[in-house]
Amino acid sequence: KEDSIILGIETSCDDTAAAVVRGDGVILSQVVSSQADLLERYGGVDPKMAGEAHSLVIDQVVEQAIQNANLTENSLSAVSVTIGPGLSLCLRVGVRKARSVAGKFGLPIIGIHHMEAHALIARIFERDLHFPFLVLLVSGGHNLIIVARDLGHYIQLGTTIDDAIGEAYDKTARLLGLDLRNGGGPALEQLALEGDAYAIKFSIPMKQYKDCNFSYAGLKTQTKKAIEKMNVNIDNCPISQADSKERKSRADIAASFQRVAVLHLEDRVERAIEWTMDIEPSIKHLVISGGVASNQYVRERLDLIANKKHLQLICPPPSLCTDNGVMVAWTGIEHFCLGRFEPPPPANEPEDYM
Ligand code: KG4
Ligand code: ZN
Repeated sequence: KEDSIILGIETSCDDTAAAVVRGDGVILSQVVSSQADLLERYGGVDPKMAGEAHSLVIDQVVEQAIQNANLTENSLSAVSVTIGPGLSLCLRVGVRKARSVAGKFGLPIIGIHHMEAHALIARIFERDLHFPFLVLLVSGGHNLIIVARDLGHYIQLGTTIDDAIGEAYDKTARLLGLDLRNGGGPALEQLALEGDAYAIKFSIPMKQYKDCNFSYAGLKTQTKKAIEKMNVNIDNCPISQADSKERKSRADIAASFQRVAVLHLEDRVERAIEWTMDIEPSIKHLVISGGVASNQYVRERLDLIANKKHLQLICPPPSLCTDNGVMVAWTGIEHFCLGRFEPPPPANEPEDYM
């Protein structure tokens, strides 16, 4: 296991990422090419455009990852690639590339579930993180609580019934006229630091439902109304041009939104821990992962919940919380070591097999 070397490729959404990871957890290389500029321009991911953007950079990203790792394709043990969930026009770019590299060098191939990769990346640096453990996955497209019982064996305790929290962060950031170049979530987190989190009384979603599901559509609407009440034309007034009073009102909305958005996470996670204690009383860890898990406020609040329930909180470093190739390569290693992989595809496979 220790000396297997796997190339991981991730293209499920708007990041084209590749990485090479060794079985002992050493990250030999990591390359991410982001479509943040497209996102900012078009206000969201357009699947066709995103697919084309992946196609333009995939060869370069993969070659760079192999080169930076100082090896040739011959030293690789296998290729792993995200096969879902995600945008099919985007996923297929990664899968094609993975099959062509694997076919050319006779390497086994491992199809990876994107959310499993987000969940398992924590095990690359936290060697004491043994199954079973509880995972909260919070990203732009997903909001899940799962019990990871074993490799490939997961129980979903809750999911979103409408939007994911990352999407709510992104939309709110846009409505507040924030600079979206580094992502709406990080911009909102930053502005919230200047605001009063109790200034606006948003209601906590789904309090009456004693389950572990999420809903962010209602909070999004509440925030939209609060912004409309401010009565400024945000299109003509990006945050960089707001005077100090105007900036403070937007910061208050950002902070109030964030407090309630995260309270909803806290509420669900606390219940999920109680449920899990019934089926897996030996659990010791709560893992949070996905783009939103790089948020400092989210980490601090969930750390309090974990402590209260005598669990240890584990958060991957921010660069491994957002979409990346390392998580795909690492999850590939976990499967590879148990013999879970497919034989090499034929060399020179026609590209239209999908
Ligand atoms: O995991 P990820 O990179 O892609 C998906 O699988 O969706 O997550 C991206 C999401 C975006 O919605 C982004 O705004 C959010 O994660 N995000 C954050 C932060 N950093 C990224 N949300 C809140 N605070 C952050 N610091
Ligand atoms: Zn993701």
